[in-house]
Amino acid sequence: MYNVKIIGAGSIGNHLAHASRSLDWNVTVCDVDPAALDRTKSQIYPTRYGTWDKNIQLSLTRDVPKGKFDLIIIGTPPDTHISLAIDAIQEKPKAILIEKPLCSPNLEDAERLRQLATESDTIAFVGYDHVVGKAAQETALAGKQLQSVETIDVEFREYWGGIFAAHPWLQGPQDSYLGFWRRGGGASGEHSHAINLWQFFSQHLGKGRINEVSASLDFVKTDALDYDKLCLLHLKTEQGLIGRVVQDVITSPARKWARLQGDNGYVELTIGHQPGVDRVNWKMAEGDSQSRIIEKTRPDDFIWELQHIDSVLKGQDNTSVISLEQGLDTMMVVSAAHLSAANNRTVRINYQKGYTLQALELL
Ligand SMILES: NC(=O)c1ccc[n+]([C@@H]2O[C@H](COP(=O)([O-])OP(=O)(O)OC[C@H]3O[C@@H](n4cnc5c(N)ncnc54)[C@H](O)[C@@H]3O)[C@@H](O)[C@H]2O)c1
Repeated sequence: MYNVKIIGAGSIGNHLAHASRSLDWNVTVCDVDPAALDRTKSQIYPTRYGTWDKNIQLSLTRDVPKGKFDLIIIGTPPDTHISLAIDAIQEKPKAILIEKPLCSPNLEDAERLRQLATESDTIAFVGYDHVVGKAAQETALAGKQLQSVETIDVEFREYWGGIFAAHPWLQGPQDSYLGFWRRGGGASGEHSHAINLWQFFSQHLGKGRINEVSASLDFVKTDALDYDKLCLLHLKTEQGLIGRVVQDVITSPARKWARLQGDNGYVELTIGHQPGVDRVNWKMAEGDSQSRIIEKTRPDDFIWELQHIDSVLKGQDNTSVISLEQGLDTMMVVSAAHLSAANNRTVRINYQKGYTLQALELL
């Protein structure tokens, strides 16, 4: 049983409050906006989960006592994450979970957060929940049968109408960080699950971290908006593996898909193959085509994520695929993508220089 504080009573705050309650953890949800707290109780939570859970405490952020929580979850817009995470570490919880994307592409204080987290006893996670999901884990496992990995492709292409349907109080992207790439919105930030999955598969298959990025971004720029609707990335790893990521907020119906291509076969992942169903299919050499169906609900995504954190805290998992470093690595690729697109040049990520803009070198 953990005492959990969730900062941000929005869409993800409600998902993670429900997931925490499903594990019988104590939950306090806080927000700077009283309207968000009202909406949680009267609208978001009961609409999604059938009824409001009276055991959830709702509070304005300033009224929540400090130092009383085992897990602090930061479910606010990306450009607020780092300062809230730095404050959260001072409270000395067992763990913090920061939502994705970790920060704005300017990487401000990202390296400072890493240093503080390293020096503290708090374990920090970043909420790329797909990589702890069963479908991605099955894909990675099947990928181990590939003798030589030739390339990896990941696409997260999804018109973001669904996000606004889940936020009926927003008129459109101009009303939130989503419509502003500098705040961590746009396709590059919002669908950065794709970069994170690519990086997860590459590392799992021994191909290392992404260290070269070449990007084309298509921007929507008006008086009220400034975001990338389409983000195309060519990636290269430290071990020389080349592959591709596509993220967009325009494709409908959505396509969330990955393919690991080897010289003796392939593995494919289709998220949302059918409603409530993910699929992993593969074929090796002369073997038959095989496939596995993974049924899951939206709440499962977040329950599995919290169960993973629980297992790390209990010492059952020594390493985490949603560690702060993994989230930082993903953020470096997002930042590199913007630099690459702006200069029409390939960008090298020099991890020796830390999680800073200085680590991004134009080739
Ligand atoms: N992992 C996932 O699948 C997933 C799903 C949804 C959202 N997210 C991420 O979660 C984050 C939040 O997204 P959302 O859709 O829940 O946003 P949202 O707009 O629905 O909610 C954010 C809430 O944070 C509050 N807030 C802003 N600044 C704050 C501060 N300094 N202190 C306390 N509260 C503050 C706002 O008032 C708002 O109620 C984003 O980074 C998003 O990418 C992740």
